[in-house]
Amino acid sequence: MRKIGVVGLGYVGLPMAVTFGKKQHVIGFDINENRIEELKKGYDRTEEVEAANLEKTDISYTTNLDDLSQADFIIVAVPTPINEHKQPNLAPLLGASQSVGKALVNAPKGTIVVFESTVYPGATEEDCIPVLEKYSGLKAGEDFFVGYSPERINPGDKVNTFESIIKVVSGQNDEVLDIIAKVYESVVTAGVHRASSIKVAEAAKVIENTQRDVNIALMNEIAIICSKAGIDTNEVLKAARTKWNFLDFRPGLVGGHCIGVDPYYLTYKAQELGHHPEVILSGRRINDNMPKLIASDIVQKLLKNGHEVQGKAVNFLGMTFKENCPDLRNTKAVDLINELEKYGLNVVVNDVEADSKEAKQLYDVDLKAKDELEVSNALIIAVQHEDYIKNKASYLELVSDDGIIFDIKGMISKQDLKENQKLWRL
Ligand SMILES: NC(=O)c1ccc[n+]([C@@H]2O[C@H](COP(=O)([O-])OP(=O)(O)OC[C@H]3O[C@@H](n4cnc5c(N)ncnc54)[C@H](O)[C@@H]3O)[C@@H](O)[C@H]2O)c1
Repeated sequence: MRKIGVVGLGYVGLPMAVTFGKKQHVIGFDINENRIEELKKGYDRTEEVEAANLEKTDISYTTNLDDLSQADFIIVAVPTPINEHKQPNLAPLLGASQSVGKALVNAPKGTIVVFESTVYPGATEEDCIPVLEKYSGLKAGEDFFVGYSPERINPGDKVNTFESIIKVVSGQNDEVLDIIAKVYESVVTAGVHRASSIKVAEAAKVIENTQRDVNIALMNEIAIICSKAGIDTNEVLKAARTKWNFLDFRPGLVGGHCIGVDPYYLTYKAQELGHHPEVILSGRRINDNMPKLIASDIVQKLLKNGHEVQGKAVNFLGMTFKENCPDLRNTKAVDLINELEKYGLNVVVNDVEADSKEAKQLYDVDLKAKDELEVSNALIIAVQHEDYIKNKASYLELVSDDGIIFDIKGMISKQDLKENQKLWRL
């Protein structure tokens, strides 16, 4: 049995380490000492793994590279963000490759390194392998081997999990692919798909998220057209969905570190290869521009209905990048808050999932508890957390009798409103 080490214990790395850790000993390595200390105490701030499940696993958490050398199957799941020019920032991935390279020096011969981070096709072989070789002094394909297996989990989703999503696997050669497939098959009940090469597996992942991004952009564009035509997008989609082959995408804010980021990895590679990607980049532009458009619609609607804007408080529900998840990174809700504030509104923000210290630290936003919110002329629902759905009626109490509900996620229907209240939906 292979000895597993996981590098990067975030949203992806921890649930994976825990799954393997239920069956065998796992070495969990991260450079963030705080994170390691919290995990040692049984606390996962990403809320992906409950304390009881953390207890049931056999993981030794460490920031010490020497510990990693005991593994002969090292999985890398570190972030792959973009920089301010919207180009891939490979610093964490190359930093992790450097660490793994050093660990390989004392690791058993034939150790396999599998990258799970989302990248463009070619990154594993062209960017990571040279770093592994440089810091280990060893040769890939002879002394150690490399594979790529993209992660497809969906944070906050307790149904589609690491074990229940088919795992795409790839390896440097057939023998290595076979070992990688067997290691994942031992825990992924949905099974594995053997991709024909590392580049194929890399491309498969990045196009999954690009496809979602472009489709959401199309729905956002349709929402803009519907709004100008004075028709309700939700009603239009409800009718269109009755056709068997209509794809069920919804308009909305696209944030986070996957769908709003991964397409840039693909467009970067495309441009390097001499192709200017038009559809993908225009989709990105539409999605990135949505906070501005929504803010201007909100302000226009408030003014048209006789509500003052300057210095007036509006309640704002949901700040994380998606529902039922505490992750505030790259959230577009904060762009919307900033746009609204530019018009002079005082945006009072509540989020039942997010950590208030992190909201303050990352965006200088003071999150308010529900009982601190006062009745106002506008309620903006940016993220559809389970708590908001369950307690919809009590949140609607926060809207004045002639106020407006701005429902970006399509959570509220006209029947939920009082006689003189109005509903705006994207
Ligand atoms: N979060 C998701 O929904 C999701 C889903 C599928 C794929 N992915 C991809 O998986 C990868 C990881 O994403 P994530 O959301 O788990 O990131 P994350 O930010 O939650 O976690 C990454 C962890 O890696 C650690 N780390 C950073 N640099 C390191 C280094 N050099 N050495 C060791 N540890 C290091 C960080 O301290 C952190 O704990 C990314 O490529 C992402 O695109 C993410």
